[in-house]
Amino acid sequence: VPAPLVVVTRSPEETRRLGAALGRALEPLGRTGTTVALLGDLGAGKTVLVTGLARGLGVPEEVAVASPTFTVARGYRGRVPVRHLDAYLLRSLAELEAAGFDEVGGGGGVTVVEWGDRIAEALPADRLEVTLVLDPDAAPPSPEGPPRRVTIEARGPRSAEALARLRASLSAAAAT
Ligand SMILES: Nc1ncnc2c1ncn2[C@@H]1O[C@H](COP(=O)(O)OP(=O)(O)OP(=O)(O)O)[C@@H](O)[C@H]1O
Ligand SMILES: [Mg+2]
Repeated sequence: VPAPLVVVTRSPEETRRLGAALGRALEPLGRTGTTVALLGDLGAGKTVLVTGLARGLGVPEEVAVASPTFTVARGYRGRVPVRHLDAYLLRSLAELEAAGFDEVGGGGGVTVVEWGDRIAEALPADRLEVTLVLDPDAAPPSPEGPPRRVTIEARGPRSAEALARLRASLSAAAAT
């Protein structure tokens, strides 16, 4: 398993760009199905990152991406299907099953789960985990608020492949 990738973002736009690069890195796995768990406190930037991820997978700008707070899941049509779950308000796995998910991430597409740690037992073992934390120590301070430290970790061989693609695309972008 490769080392985690750590990226500091200094604005919502930078977080969206990182999400878009992550989406593109996941696209080949999206044909058979892949899952990303998003962790981090309220307001850390999980939904902002998912917005970028959806755009990176070809979901048009006109399609709003928002936390599926009152519906367990939202779906967006991109080059591969994107499913967006938020486990914040889920009180139990039974509630998830009642909504038709025995196993999150089964079937094709890219499934992203905000607060994924709350339903970890229902997620595939081989997944990416993206953790966002406010990083008040990252200098220089930004007018948008504290920068976010985003840590991306692979939990298995398929997600490691996507992480390697992401790492390569970010270093290529940095070199230009
Ligand atoms: N570097 C940054 N990256 C992402 N968001 C940022 C950044 N700097 C400031 N923000 C702001 O922080 C907020 C993040 O909100 P967002 O809804 O994405 O959080 P969340 O983690 O999904 O929260 P929740 O747990 O409530 O769903 C937005 O208002 C965004 O504009
Ligand atoms: Mg959110």
